[in-house]
Amino acid sequence: MNTAPLSTCVFDDITEAIAGPGMGIFPGFLNPAQTAALRRDFATLPDWQLTPAGIGREHAHHNNERIRTDKTRWLDGTTPPQQDYLALMAGLQQSLNRELFMGLRDYECHYARYDEGDFYKKHLDAFRGRSNRRVTTVLYLNNDWQADQGGELLIYAEKGAQPSHRVMPEGGTLVCFLSERFPHEVLPARRQRLSIAGWFRIDDPVAPVLRL
Ligand code: OGA
Ligand code: MN
Repeated sequence: MNTAPLSTCVFDDITEAIAGPGMGIFPGFLNPAQTAALRRDFATLPDWQLTPAGIGREHAHHNNERIRTDKTRWLDGTTPPQQDYLALMAGLQQSLNRELFMGLRDYECHYARYDEGDFYKKHLDAFRGRSNRRVTTVLYLNNDWQADQGGELLIYAEKGAQPSHRVMPEGGTLVCFLSERFPHEVLPARRQRLSIAGWFRIDDPVAPVLRL
């Protein structure tokens, strides 16, 4: 994966979206070759390395399969596509800190595989004052997603009952939002659905880590 062609304009657009509405959707954030490199990297992971959601690293105990049924694996930066993606996100972190003084200290992300029928019910990624997560990113890795295949990400306004955005998980699209502000959910898909969900974190000792 060669991240060089990604212009820093995209970082500016994302930064502006976070500063304004608090969220944004960016189709073509990665080009097809970059997306395919990550998809292949994910595909090389053996099944036993995938953690059923809700049993893994410090997950909150209530976060179980009634809420989500996807399988995840943290990126550890041991392959070139992962290194490239983490480097790209480090650039975005810099931009958010420089322009918005967000004080983001690190970024963690996991591959997520939703097999047919898998879902993630409406949730928040962070609760005010109880988590170090500030900004959520979701990057999709699916080739040629069709409208009738389901698997949309629904994003809700803070108090809205109806979703304000409906995102098809098409490869290369990045969604970015303030983790404490936007409830969201993943609808069941009719085919396997791959993504990388990630979180920029601050490092505040009064806000203990709560992983969801
Ligand atoms: C998550 C999440 C959304 C998606 O992992 O917390 O909300 O579209 N993922 O994969
Ligand atoms: Mn989420």
